[in-house]
Amino acid sequence: MDYTALYQQKLTEAASLAARVENGWNIGMDAALAQAPGFAEALAARAKRSELAGAWVHTLLDVYPFDFYTDASLSGRLNGMSWFSGGYARKAANAGYADIIPGYYRDMPGHIRRAWDYDAVVLAASPMDKHGYFSLSCTSSYSEAMLDKTGRVYIEVNRELPRAVCGTQVHISRVDAIIENDHPLPVLPTAAPDALSTTIGGYIAELIPDGACIQLGIGAIPDAVGAALKSKHDLGIHTEMFTDSMVELIECGAVNNSKKQIHRGVSVTTFAFGSQRIYDYINDNPAIALMPVDYVNDPNVICRNDNMISINAALEVDFWGQVCAESVGTKHMSGSGGQIDYVRGATQSKGGKSFIAFSSTAKGGTISKIKSTLTPGAVCTTSKNDVDYIVTEFGVAHLRGQSLASRTRQLIAIAHPDFRDQLSFEAKQRGIMI
Ligand code: COA
Repeated sequence: MDYTALYQQKLTEAASLAARVENGWNIGMDAALAQAPGFAEALAARAKRSELAGAWVHTLLDVYPFDFYTDASLSGRLNGMSWFSGGYARKAANAGYADIIPGYYRDMPGHIRRAWDYDAVVLAASPMDKHGYFSLSCTSSYSEAMLDKTGRVYIEVNRELPRAVCGTQVHISRVDAIIENDHPLPVLPTAAPDALSTTIGGYIAELIPDGACIQLGIGAIPDAVGAALKSKHDLGIHTEMFTDSMVELIECGAVNNSKKQIHRGVSVTTFAFGSQRIYDYINDNPAIALMPVDYVNDPNVICRNDNMISINAALEVDFWGQVCAESVGTKHMSGSGGQIDYVRGATQSKGGKSFIAFSSTAKGGTISKIKSTLTPGAVCTTSKNDVDYIVTEFGVAHLRGQSLASRTRQLIAIAHPDFRDQLSFEAKQRGIMI
Protein backbone atom coordinates (compact mmCIF):
# COMPACT_ATOMS: atom_id res chain seq x y z
CA MET A 1 0.00 0.00 0.00
CA ASP A 2 1.24 3.52 -0.81
CA TYR A 3 0.87 5.80 2.21
CA THR A 4 2.11 8.94 0.46
CA ALA A 5 -1.37 10.23 -0.33
CA LEU A 6 -2.47 9.73 3.28
CA TYR A 7 0.66 11.56 4.44
CA GLN A 8 -0.10 14.53 2.18
CA GLN A 9 -3.69 14.56 3.37
CA LYS A 10 -2.58 14.83 7.03
CA LEU A 11 0.27 17.27 6.40
CA THR A 12 -0.27 20.80 7.68
CA GLU A 13 1.65 23.84 8.96
CA ALA A 14 2.74 24.30 12.59
CA ALA A 15 0.60 27.44 13.02
CA SER A 16 -2.51 25.68 11.66
CA LEU A 17 -1.93 22.73 13.96
CA ALA A 18 -1.40 24.97 16.99
CA ALA A 19 -4.64 26.77 16.05
CA ARG A 20 -6.54 23.52 16.70
CA VAL A 21 -5.60 23.61 20.40
CA GLU A 22 -8.45 24.70 22.64
CA ASN A 23 -8.45 26.38 26.04
CA GLY A 24 -7.73 23.99 28.89
CA TRP A 25 -6.11 21.31 26.72
CA ASN A 26 -3.58 18.92 28.21
CA ILE A 27 -0.84 18.20 25.68
CA GLY A 28 1.71 15.42 26.09
CA MET A 29 5.28 15.16 24.82
CA ASP A 30 7.83 12.44 25.50
CA ALA A 31 11.39 13.00 26.75
CA ALA A 32 14.35 14.72 25.11
CA LEU A 33 14.51 14.42 21.30
CA ALA A 34 10.91 13.18 21.03
CA GLN A 35 9.80 16.70 21.89
CA ALA A 36 8.27 18.84 19.16
CA PRO A 37 9.86 22.32 19.13
CA GLY A 38 8.08 23.58 15.98
CA PHE A 39 4.65 22.84 17.42
CA ALA A 40 5.65 24.26 20.82
CA GLU A 41 6.83 27.52 19.25
CA ALA A 42 3.61 27.93 17.29
CA LEU A 43 1.56 27.19 20.41
CA ALA A 44 3.55 29.74 22.46
CA ALA A 45 2.96 32.31 19.72
CA ARG A 46 -0.77 31.86 20.23
CA ALA A 47 -0.37 32.16 23.99
CA LYS A 48 1.65 35.37 23.52
CA ARG A 49 -1.23 36.79 21.47
CA SER A 50 -3.57 35.82 24.34
CA GLU A 51 -5.44 33.37 22.09
CA LEU A 52 -5.12 30.58 24.64
CA ALA A 53 -6.03 30.03 28.29
CA GLY A 54 -5.40 27.21 30.73
CA ALA A 55 -3.40 24.97 28.39
CA TRP A 56 -0.70 22.67 29.78
CA VAL A 57 2.17 20.83 28.13
CA HIS A 58 3.67 17.78 29.89
CA THR A 59 7.39 17.14 29.30
CA LEU A 60 10.38 15.33 30.75
CA LEU A 61 14.06 16.20 30.31
CA ASP A 62 13.68 19.21 28.04
CA VAL A 63 16.24 19.71 25.33
CA TYR A 64 14.58 22.80 23.83
CA PRO A 65 14.08 26.16 25.62
CA PHE A 66 10.29 25.98 25.51
CA ASP A 67 8.61 29.35 26.13
CA PHE A 68 6.30 27.85 28.73
CA TYR A 69 9.42 27.17 30.84
CA THR A 70 11.35 30.33 29.99
CA ASP A 71 8.65 33.02 29.80
CA ALA A 72 6.76 33.59 33.06
CA SER A 73 4.36 35.99 31.34
CA LEU A 74 2.66 33.03 29.59
CA SER A 75 1.53 31.55 32.92
CA GLY A 76 -2.22 30.97 33.03
CA ARG A 77 -2.36 30.78 29.25
CA LEU A 78 0.25 28.08 28.63
CA ASN A 79 2.11 26.28 31.44
CA GLY A 80 4.57 23.44 31.62
CA MET A 81 4.12 20.30 33.73
CA SER A 82 7.41 18.53 34.29
CA TRP A 83 7.84 14.86 35.13
CA PHE A 84 11.51 15.51 35.97
CA SER A 85 12.08 19.22 36.83
CA GLY A 86 15.66 19.38 35.58
CA GLY A 87 16.88 21.58 32.74
CA TYR A 88 14.63 24.39 31.56
CA ALA A 89 11.74 23.25 33.77
CA ARG A 90 13.86 23.78 36.90
CA LYS A 91 13.85 27.56 36.63
CA ALA A 92 10.09 27.71 35.97
CA ALA A 93 9.31 25.34 38.85
CA ASN A 94 11.45 27.35 41.27
CA ALA A 95 9.82 30.58 40.07
CA GLY A 96 6.29 29.18 40.52
CA TYR A 97 5.03 29.04 36.95
CA ALA A 98 5.54 25.32 36.24
CA ASP A 99 4.34 22.32 38.20
CA ILE A 100 6.14 19.05 38.92
CA ILE A 101 4.94 15.45 39.13
CA PRO A 102 7.27 13.45 41.39
CA GLY A 103 7.82 9.76 40.80
CA TYR A 104 10.07 7.05 39.54
CA TYR A 105 10.59 7.41 35.79
CA ARG A 106 9.70 3.71 35.49
CA ASP A 107 6.24 4.36 36.96
CA MET A 108 5.37 7.15 34.57
CA PRO A 109 3.62 5.03 31.93
CA GLY A 110 1.50 3.55 34.74
CA HIS A 111 0.68 6.98 36.19
CA ILE A 112 -0.32 8.17 32.72
CA ARG A 113 -2.52 5.17 32.08
CA ARG A 114 -4.21 5.53 35.50
CA ALA A 115 -4.34 9.24 36.17
CA TRP A 116 -3.95 11.36 33.03
CA ASP A 117 -5.79 12.04 29.79
CA TYR A 118 -4.36 14.05 26.95
CA ASP A 119 -6.26 16.06 24.37
CA ALA A 120 -3.26 15.73 22.07
CA VAL A 121 0.12 14.02 22.12
CA VAL A 122 2.81 15.58 19.93
CA LEU A 123 5.87 13.52 19.06
CA ALA A 124 8.92 14.24 16.96
CA ALA A 125 9.79 11.44 14.55
CA SER A 126 12.01 10.55 11.65
CA PRO A 127 10.39 10.44 8.18
CA MET A 128 7.71 7.84 7.51
CA ASP A 129 8.97 4.56 6.04
CA LYS A 130 7.42 2.76 3.08
CA HIS A 131 5.18 0.74 5.41
CA GLY A 132 3.66 3.91 6.91
CA TYR A 133 5.60 3.89 10.20
CA PHE A 134 7.25 6.84 11.94
CA SER A 135 10.18 5.94 14.17
CA LEU A 136 10.17 7.85 17.46
CA SER A 137 13.91 7.82 17.03
CA CYS A 138 16.03 8.41 20.15
CA THR A 139 13.17 8.10 22.68
CA SER A 140 10.88 5.24 23.58
CA SER A 141 10.24 6.03 27.20
CA TYR A 142 6.49 6.62 27.76
CA SER A 143 5.12 7.47 24.29
CA GLU A 144 3.10 4.25 24.14
CA ALA A 145 1.29 5.13 27.38
CA MET A 146 0.55 8.64 26.16
CA LEU A 147 -0.69 7.24 22.84
CA ASP A 148 -3.09 5.02 24.80
CA LYS A 149 -4.50 8.04 26.65
CA THR A 150 -4.87 10.70 23.98
CA GLY A 151 -7.66 11.99 21.81
CA ARG A 152 -5.31 13.09 19.02
CA VAL A 153 -1.84 12.18 17.74
CA TYR A 154 0.31 14.82 16.05
CA ILE A 155 3.70 14.02 14.53
CA GLU A 156 6.46 16.55 13.90
CA VAL A 157 8.80 15.08 11.27
CA ASN A 158 12.47 16.05 11.35
CA ARG A 159 14.68 14.47 8.70
CA GLU A 160 17.69 14.85 11.02
CA LEU A 161 16.25 12.38 13.53
CA PRO A 162 17.77 8.90 13.17
CA ARG A 163 15.53 5.91 12.53
CA ALA A 164 15.61 3.46 15.42
CA VAL A 165 14.79 0.07 13.95
CA CYS A 166 14.35 -1.43 17.43
CA GLY A 167 12.35 1.44 18.94
CA THR A 168 8.79 2.71 19.26
CA GLN A 169 7.00 3.17 15.94
CA VAL A 170 3.73 4.97 15.22
CA HIS A 171 1.69 4.01 12.17
CA ILE A 172 0.19 6.78 10.05
CA SER A 173 -3.26 5.28 10.53
CA ARG A 174 -3.06 6.42 14.21
CA VAL A 175 -1.92 9.94 13.31
CA ASP A 176 -4.31 12.89 13.06
CA ALA A 177 -1.92 15.50 11.67
CA ILE A 178 1.69 15.86 10.56
CA ILE A 179 3.98 18.89 10.42
CA GLU A 180 7.50 18.99 9.01
CA ASN A 181 10.31 20.78 10.80
CA ASP A 182 13.84 19.88 9.71
CA HIS A 183 16.50 21.26 12.04
CA PRO A 184 19.85 20.14 13.45
CA LEU A 185 19.41 18.10 16.61
CA PRO A 186 20.41 19.63 19.95
CA VAL A 187 23.53 18.12 21.45
CA LEU A 188 24.61 17.73 25.05
CA PRO A 189 27.80 19.73 25.59
CA THR A 190 30.66 17.47 26.65
CA ALA A 191 34.02 18.33 28.12
CA ALA A 192 37.05 16.11 28.65
CA PRO A 193 36.84 14.72 32.21
CA ASP A 194 38.71 16.92 34.72
CA ALA A 195 41.24 15.54 37.22
CA LEU A 196 38.64 15.08 39.97
CA SER A 197 36.21 13.15 37.76
CA THR A 198 39.08 11.07 36.40
CA THR A 199 40.15 10.13 39.95
CA ILE A 200 36.59 9.10 40.85
CA GLY A 201 36.23 7.24 37.55
CA GLY A 202 39.43 5.34 38.33
CA TYR A 203 38.20 4.21 41.79
CA ILE A 204 34.96 2.92 40.31
CA ALA A 205 36.57 1.26 37.29
CA GLU A 206 38.76 -0.81 39.66
CA LEU A 207 35.60 -2.33 41.14
CA ILE A 208 34.00 -3.21 37.79
CA PRO A 209 34.85 -6.68 36.47
CA ASP A 210 35.15 -7.68 32.82
CA GLY A 211 31.78 -8.93 31.60
CA ALA A 212 29.80 -6.45 33.76
CA CYS A 213 26.63 -4.78 32.48
CA ILE A 214 26.62 -1.01 32.99
CA GLN A 215 24.26 1.91 33.48
CA LEU A 216 25.77 5.40 33.49
CA GLY A 217 23.78 8.40 34.69
CA ILE A 218 24.00 12.00 33.53
CA GLY A 219 27.04 14.17 34.17
CA ALA A 220 30.80 14.53 34.17
CA ILE A 221 31.52 11.74 36.64
CA PRO A 222 29.54 8.98 34.88
CA ASP A 223 31.29 10.12 31.67
CA ALA A 224 34.68 9.82 33.40
CA VAL A 225 33.79 6.30 34.52
CA GLY A 226 32.96 5.51 30.90
CA ALA A 227 36.39 6.78 29.85
CA ALA A 228 38.05 4.64 32.55
CA LEU A 229 36.33 1.48 31.27
CA LYS A 230 37.99 1.42 27.85
CA SER A 231 40.48 -1.25 28.89
CA LYS A 232 37.71 -3.65 30.05
CA HIS A 233 36.37 -6.58 28.04
CA ASP A 234 32.93 -8.02 27.23
CA LEU A 235 30.94 -5.26 28.94
CA GLY A 236 27.22 -4.91 28.32
CA ILE A 237 24.83 -1.94 28.38
CA HIS A 238 21.41 -1.78 30.04
CA THR A 239 20.72 1.86 30.82
CA GLU A 240 18.09 4.57 31.09
CA MET A 241 20.03 7.08 28.99
CA PHE A 242 22.39 6.09 26.17
CA THR A 243 25.38 8.44 26.19
CA ASP A 244 28.43 9.36 24.15
CA SER A 245 30.77 7.47 26.42
CA MET A 246 28.79 4.31 25.66
CA VAL A 247 29.30 4.73 21.91
CA GLU A 248 33.01 5.13 22.62
CA LEU A 249 33.02 1.93 24.67
CA ILE A 250 31.26 0.08 21.85
CA GLU A 251 33.57 1.45 19.19
CA CYS A 252 36.75 0.64 21.15
CA GLY A 253 35.56 -2.95 21.71
CA ALA A 254 35.11 -2.79 25.50
CA VAL A 255 31.35 -3.30 25.10
CA ASN A 256 30.09 -6.21 23.01
CA ASN A 257 27.07 -7.24 25.15
CA SER A 258 28.24 -10.85 24.88
CA LYS A 259 27.88 -11.73 28.58
CA LYS A 260 24.39 -10.37 29.18
CA GLN A 261 21.73 -12.74 30.49
CA ILE A 262 18.95 -10.81 28.71
CA HIS A 263 19.13 -9.00 25.35
CA ARG A 264 22.49 -10.60 24.61
CA GLY A 265 24.33 -8.81 21.82
CA VAL A 266 22.17 -5.70 22.11
CA SER A 267 22.50 -2.45 24.09
CA VAL A 268 19.22 -1.58 25.83
CA THR A 269 18.09 1.95 26.69
CA THR A 270 14.92 4.02 26.97
CA PHE A 271 16.29 7.23 25.43
CA ALA A 272 19.48 8.62 23.96
CA PHE A 273 20.84 12.13 24.09
CA GLY A 274 24.32 13.43 23.43
CA SER A 275 26.27 14.23 20.30
CA GLN A 276 25.72 13.59 16.60
CA ARG A 277 27.91 10.51 17.09
CA ILE A 278 25.08 8.89 19.08
CA TYR A 279 22.46 9.83 16.54
CA ASP A 280 24.58 8.35 13.72
CA TYR A 281 25.09 5.19 15.77
CA ILE A 282 21.37 4.70 16.35
CA ASN A 283 20.35 5.23 12.74
CA ASP A 284 19.15 1.90 11.27
CA ASN A 285 21.17 -0.03 13.87
CA PRO A 286 19.65 -3.28 15.20
CA ALA A 287 22.40 -3.50 17.88
CA ILE A 288 20.58 -0.94 20.05
CA ALA A 289 17.06 -1.42 21.40
CA LEU A 290 15.09 1.61 22.61
CA MET A 291 12.33 0.22 24.82
CA PRO A 292 9.60 1.66 27.12
CA VAL A 293 10.83 2.91 30.48
CA ASP A 294 8.47 0.72 32.52
CA TYR A 295 10.41 -2.25 31.14
CA VAL A 296 13.96 -0.84 30.87
CA ASN A 297 13.98 0.76 34.34
CA ASP A 298 12.17 -2.05 36.17
CA PRO A 299 14.57 -3.27 38.90
CA ASN A 300 13.26 -6.82 38.32
CA VAL A 301 14.44 -6.55 34.72
CA ILE A 302 17.68 -4.69 35.50
CA CYS A 303 18.79 -7.34 38.00
CA ARG A 304 18.44 -10.18 35.48
CA ASN A 305 21.85 -9.25 34.09
CA ASP A 306 24.64 -10.50 36.36
CA ASN A 307 27.30 -8.04 37.54
CA MET A 308 24.96 -5.12 36.90
CA ILE A 309 26.77 -1.85 37.72
CA SER A 310 24.97 1.46 38.13
CA ILE A 311 26.74 4.81 38.43
CA ASN A 312 24.83 7.95 39.35
CA ALA A 313 25.46 11.37 40.87
CA ALA A 314 24.13 13.24 43.92
CA LEU A 315 23.98 16.68 45.50
CA GLU A 316 24.42 15.63 49.13
CA VAL A 317 24.52 12.54 51.37
CA ASP A 318 23.97 12.32 55.13
CA PHE A 319 25.50 9.98 57.71
CA TRP A 320 22.77 7.39 57.16
CA GLY A 321 23.70 7.34 53.48
CA GLN A 322 20.46 9.05 52.45
CA VAL A 323 21.13 10.43 48.99
CA CYS A 324 19.66 13.71 47.78
CA ALA A 325 19.94 14.10 44.01
CA GLU A 326 16.97 16.39 43.40
CA SER A 327 17.12 19.57 45.45
CA VAL A 328 19.33 21.97 47.32
CA GLY A 329 17.17 22.43 50.40
CA THR A 330 13.75 23.28 49.01
CA LYS A 331 15.14 24.50 45.68
CA HIS A 332 14.29 22.08 42.84
CA MET A 333 17.28 20.83 40.91
CA SER A 334 16.19 17.61 39.24
CA GLY A 335 13.95 14.55 39.45
CA SER A 336 14.35 11.01 40.72
CA GLY A 337 14.70 9.72 37.18
CA GLY A 338 15.88 6.14 37.29
CA GLN A 339 18.38 6.51 40.11
CA ILE A 340 16.57 4.34 42.65
CA ASP A 341 15.57 1.75 40.06
CA TYR A 342 19.19 1.25 39.03
CA VAL A 343 20.41 1.26 42.64
CA ARG A 344 17.89 -1.48 43.40
CA GLY A 345 18.39 -3.37 40.14
CA ALA A 346 22.17 -3.36 40.53
CA THR A 347 22.17 -4.40 44.17
CA GLN A 348 19.71 -7.24 43.44
CA SER A 349 21.82 -8.50 40.55
CA LYS A 350 24.24 -11.39 41.13
CA GLY A 351 27.62 -9.69 41.59
CA GLY A 352 26.03 -6.25 41.05
CA LYS A 353 27.09 -2.94 42.59
CA SER A 354 25.59 0.53 42.70
CA PHE A 355 27.79 3.63 42.93
CA ILE A 356 26.69 7.14 43.85
CA ALA A 357 29.62 9.40 42.98
CA PHE A 358 30.21 13.14 43.41
CA SER A 359 32.88 15.72 44.21
CA SER A 360 33.26 16.08 47.99
CA THR A 361 32.43 19.80 47.94
CA ALA A 362 30.25 22.31 46.08
CA LYS A 363 30.45 26.06 45.46
CA GLY A 364 34.20 26.37 45.19
CA GLY A 365 34.95 24.13 48.16
CA THR A 366 32.73 26.08 50.59
CA ILE A 367 30.05 23.39 51.08
CA SER A 368 30.60 19.74 52.02
CA LYS A 369 28.32 17.37 50.10
CA ILE A 370 28.71 14.87 52.94
CA LYS A 371 26.60 16.14 55.81
CA SER A 372 25.47 15.06 59.25
CA THR A 373 21.84 15.53 58.16
CA LEU A 374 20.35 16.46 54.81
CA THR A 375 19.69 20.18 54.41
CA PRO A 376 16.15 21.00 55.67
CA GLY A 377 13.75 20.62 52.76
CA ALA A 378 16.09 18.38 50.79
CA VAL A 379 14.49 15.49 48.94
CA CYS A 380 15.74 11.99 49.77
CA THR A 381 16.18 10.27 46.42
CA THR A 382 17.91 7.01 47.37
CA SER A 383 17.12 5.75 50.86
CA LYS A 384 19.53 4.54 53.52
CA ASN A 385 18.13 1.04 52.99
CA ASP A 386 18.99 0.96 49.29
CA VAL A 387 22.31 2.81 49.16
CA ASP A 388 25.41 0.77 48.30
CA TYR A 389 28.74 2.50 47.42
CA ILE A 390 29.43 6.24 47.82
CA VAL A 391 32.50 7.60 46.02
CA THR A 392 34.28 10.98 46.14
CA GLU A 393 37.74 12.05 45.01
CA PHE A 394 38.95 10.90 48.46
CA GLY A 395 37.91 7.28 48.09
CA VAL A 396 35.12 4.73 48.33
CA ALA A 397 32.65 4.06 51.17
CA HIS A 398 30.68 0.81 51.09
CA LEU A 399 27.57 1.43 53.21
CA ARG A 400 25.24 -1.42 52.38
CA GLY A 401 24.59 -3.67 55.37
CA GLN A 402 26.78 -1.48 57.58
CA SER A 403 25.88 0.20 60.89
CA LEU A 404 25.26 3.92 61.32
CA ALA A 405 28.65 4.29 63.05
CA SER A 406 30.49 2.46 60.28
CA ARG A 407 28.68 4.49 57.62
CA THR A 408 29.52 7.73 59.42
CA ARG A 409 33.20 6.80 59.81
CA GLN A 410 33.49 5.75 56.18
CA LEU A 411 31.74 8.88 54.91
CA ILE A 412 33.87 11.24 57.02
CA ALA A 413 36.96 9.49 55.63
CA ILE A 414 35.95 10.39 52.06
CA ALA A 415 34.71 13.92 52.92
CA HIS A 416 36.98 16.84 52.05
CA PRO A 417 39.72 17.17 54.72
CA ASP A 418 38.59 20.77 55.45
CA PHE A 419 35.27 19.42 56.78
CA ARG A 420 36.29 16.21 58.54
CA ASP A 421 36.79 17.76 62.04
CA GLN A 422 33.42 19.49 61.93
CA LEU A 423 31.68 16.33 60.69
CA SER A 424 33.34 14.24 63.45
CA PHE A 425 32.22 16.82 66.02
CA GLU A 426 28.62 16.64 64.74
CA ALA A 427 28.68 12.83 64.76
CA LYS A 428 29.85 12.80 68.40
CA GLN A 429 27.21 15.39 69.34
CA ARG A 430 24.56 13.07 67.89
CA GLY A 431 25.95 10.19 69.94
CA ILE A 432 27.06 8.18 66.93
CA MET A 433 29.77 5.70 68.05
CA ILE A 434 32.58 6.83 65.77
N1 COA B 1 24.79 22.38 48.06
C1 COA B 1 24.60 23.48 47.30
N2 COA B 1 24.74 23.50 45.96
C2 COA B 1 25.10 22.35 45.38
C3 COA B 1 25.33 21.16 46.10
C4 COA B 1 25.16 21.21 47.49
N3 COA B 1 25.35 20.13 48.24
N4 COA B 1 25.68 20.19 45.24
C5 COA B 1 25.69 20.72 44.02
N5 COA B 1 25.34 22.03 44.10
C6 COA B 1 25.20 22.95 42.98
C7 COA B 1 26.45 22.98 42.12
O1 COA B 1 27.38 23.92 42.56
C8 COA B 1 25.86 23.36 40.77
O2 COA B 1 25.57 24.74 40.80
P1 COA B 1 25.73 25.64 39.47
O3 COA B 1 24.66 25.09 38.53
O4 COA B 1 25.45 26.99 39.96
O5 COA B 1 27.13 25.39 39.01
C9 COA B 1 24.51 22.64 40.76
O6 COA B 1 24.17 22.44 42.14
C10 COA B 1 24.53 21.28 40.05
O7 COA B 1 25.51 20.49 40.69
P2 COA B 1 26.42 19.47 39.88
O8 COA B 1 27.22 18.71 40.86
O9 COA B 1 27.15 20.16 38.77
O10 COA B 1 25.31 18.55 39.25
P3 COA B 1 25.37 17.55 38.00
O11 COA B 1 25.15 18.28 36.74
O12 COA B 1 26.55 16.66 38.09
O13 COA B 1 24.03 16.71 38.28
C11 COA B 1 22.43 15.64 39.67
C12 COA B 1 23.88 16.05 39.51
C13 COA B 1 22.33 14.88 40.97
C14 COA B 1 21.51 16.86 39.72
C15 COA B 1 22.03 14.74 38.44
O14 COA B 1 22.85 13.60 38.39
C16 COA B 1 20.59 14.30 38.51
O15 COA B 1 19.74 14.96 37.95
N6 COA B 1 20.29 13.16 39.19
C17 COA B 1 18.94 12.69 39.45
C18 COA B 1 18.45 11.71 38.43
C19 COA B 1 19.36 10.53 38.26
O16 COA B 1 20.24 10.22 39.04
N7 COA B 1 19.14 9.83 37.18
C20 COA B 1 19.97 8.67 36.89
C21 COA B 1 19.50 7.84 35.80
S1 COA B 1 20.00 8.59 34.21
